[in-house]
Amino acid sequence: MADGPLFRRVAIIGLGLIGGSLASAIRRARLADTVVGADQRADELALGLSLGIVDETADSIAGAVTGADLVVVAVPVRATEQVLREIRPHLGEGALLTDVGSTKASFVEAVRTVFGKEPVAMIPGHPIAGSEKSGITAANPDLFDRHMVILTPPEGADSRHLKRLRALWEGCGATVLTMSVARHDEVLAATSHLPHLIAFSLVDTLAGEDDNLDIFRYAAGGFRDFTRIAASDPVMWHDIFLSNQQAVLRVIDHFTHDLDQLRAAIADQDSATLLRVFSRAKAARDHFSKMLSGQAYVTKTNQKPLTFLLEPGHKVTGDIRVPGDKSISHRSIMLGALADGITEVKGFLEGEDSLATLQAFRDMGVTIEGPDHGHVRLHGVGIDGLQAPRGPLYLGNSGTGMRLFSGLLAPQPFSSELTGDASLSKRPMGRVADPLRAMGAVIETAEGGRPPMKIQGGRPLKGIHYDMPVASAQVKSCLLLAGLYAEGTTSVSEPAPTRDHTERMLAGFGYDVHRDGATVSVTGGGRLTATSIDIPADISSAAFFLVAASIAPDSDLTLRQVGMNPTRVGVINILRLMGANIEVLDEREVGGEPVADLRVQSAALRGIEIPLSDVPLAIDEFPVLFIAATCADGETVLRGAEELRVKESDRIQVMADGLAALGVATTVTEDGIVIRGGQSIGGGTVDSHGDHRIAMSFAVASLVAKGPIKVTDCANVATSFPGFVELARGVGIQITTAEE
Ligand code: S3P
Repeated sequence: MADGPLFRRVAIIGLGLIGGSLASAIRRARLADTVVGADQRADELALGLSLGIVDETADSIAGAVTGADLVVVAVPVRATEQVLREIRPHLGEGALLTDVGSTKASFVEAVRTVFGKEPVAMIPGHPIAGSEKSGITAANPDLFDRHMVILTPPEGADSRHLKRLRALWEGCGATVLTMSVARHDEVLAATSHLPHLIAFSLVDTLAGEDDNLDIFRYAAGGFRDFTRIAASDPVMWHDIFLSNQQAVLRVIDHFTHDLDQLRAAIADQDSATLLRVFSRAKAARDHFSKMLSGQAYVTKTNQKPLTFLLEPGHKVTGDIRVPGDKSISHRSIMLGALADGITEVKGFLEGEDSLATLQAFRDMGVTIEGPDHGHVRLHGVGIDGLQAPRGPLYLGNSGTGMRLFSGLLAPQPFSSELTGDASLSKRPMGRVADPLRAMGAVIETAEGGRPPMKIQGGRPLKGIHYDMPVASAQVKSCLLLAGLYAEGTTSVSEPAPTRDHTERMLAGFGYDVHRDGATVSVTGGGRLTATSIDIPADISSAAFFLVAASIAPDSDLTLRQVGMNPTRVGVINILRLMGANIEVLDEREVGGEPVADLRVQSAALRGIEIPLSDVPLAIDEFPVLFIAATCADGETVLRGAEELRVKESDRIQVMADGLAALGVATTVTEDGIVIRGGQSIGGGTVDSHGDHRIAMSFAVASLVAKGPIKVTDCANVATSFPGFVELARGVGIQITTAEE
């Protein structure tokens, strides 16, 4: 350390596992000139010295504490008071007193009892790094590495003391959190003390059963994992429960109440309750695993590459519902999180993109229950209620996520950083950063306006009018979200109609949105009122099956409750122009969005010039429309679609390359493609370039292929269409998967 050690002399009273580990971590990182240990147990003390855990040992507490500028009490809770009495006469002026105990109110109480009104600099601490092992021989300087340490400074604690103690723990590799004593004891009662109690109790109960030997002999991994902590030190836990009595009793009562409910559900054969509780718990547990992995959202690095293996198929038949709309799912989380009150969402897409959005809000302090079979319950924090995230918000593969978040975060009082996977890191963000800057935002992007986006907090925004150079719903939505916080009115004009889910949903949350021709505007300063949202099936996912059933002979497929928002139906317009047989049935409105059931039967398709006005309305469906064009009679020409080059991949080139790999020639142009229909699709290997829609399009192509098709790099299908493989197989696409 450039400035020398943090402390001159650290006295560690009690050389058990925690005291010994702390001593050796301090020594290793040279955080003190001298570490001196004191312990009643002469043998432990001698071991500490011979193992090099401490620099010196003292025969008495007096000897250790004298001259120390930090005294760490690391003795069992029951011994605390006596040890403090011995410390008191020798504690130097300006010395800091801390501890490592599992309960904090009891330590503060003991200090009060012993020191009375005498001034003492005290900051209690608790490293969350226990182990069922104990004793100095288990001491380990890495024990605190990447673990959490909670400090509970009393009000008015000297900030220099806090800073030095924090730096000491950080120097040992820990992450330091501060909270009040009461909060600490509540949190620990729930997350540590109760689980230990249950583990002790369960093992004890089972050990008392007649056939206990068999139970332990055949104990499965689950039992072993669950009860590992029942091997912890009984005396220590006895002390912890008695010293944290009130908080522990509260959480035991809560738990027994819920356990009784589960008991009743089992007795009554109440599947709904059991499933609800278990799936809610699973979602929460998965969330914790992700949080604990230190990342807002689990990256693809631990995801195995996936290949689709396809055999030429036959007809496509069935009656299915594809998952919820991705665009609407993102927005439901965003607005629900910012609303006042509880928003219930049904039909939420549990794909990685929308889950990344959900996770990002959890990271900003929003309580979100679920998702549980598409059901999400958001406890809105209000428009001004977001909290600063602890690290960058990772948005995976999602361009929509990043662009909408940039608008929402630019006006927040805290700074933030948005990151994404390899594909997202190549996509242009200048299209949102530039107009946001014009509103007063301070945003840094990487070279060429690419992610990560670093957004400076505390920058008030002013409303602007923006003429969008490209027809982009993401840019429009970004500015409208920023506009909720801006002074005055923010208006956006679009060169062609783009999806209007943000406008519709804002209105659904009671926010005034004004539309005048191609211009939409909001005025800042309002609030959102929680509501219920029923998300229709995603027409962009339905598109794969619309094309599949159109091109495979003898097909007849019904798709239920598909979103039919007029700004999204380009794929139906285009397929119908090509001669597809799509019936729109039972048109109705669900939660502010039009929906219908679609019946599609095979048809002889013909090539067309795709109308320019349909391009933004079918922007995500072109990969699979290229497959339809390949199967059509005559030429299909697409123009005005340069946007396709900056989607999850360059969708014009990647589709052309994939088709070429299957023997289909196309002519690529700057802003589109020309496909001569009637060419036969051969077998072969296609690289999807990690683009979900490319992967699924070639799965559809296999229906009419002359040989087997292999599509590589398909794991990202989970971003928009979890369950695609099973659903596709169910209707007749001959698809299996392999891990590469
Ligand atoms: C989306 C808008 C579209 C679309 C994307 C989702 C949205 O992007 O391609 O998949 O939810 O707003 P652009 O608006 O950039 O064209």
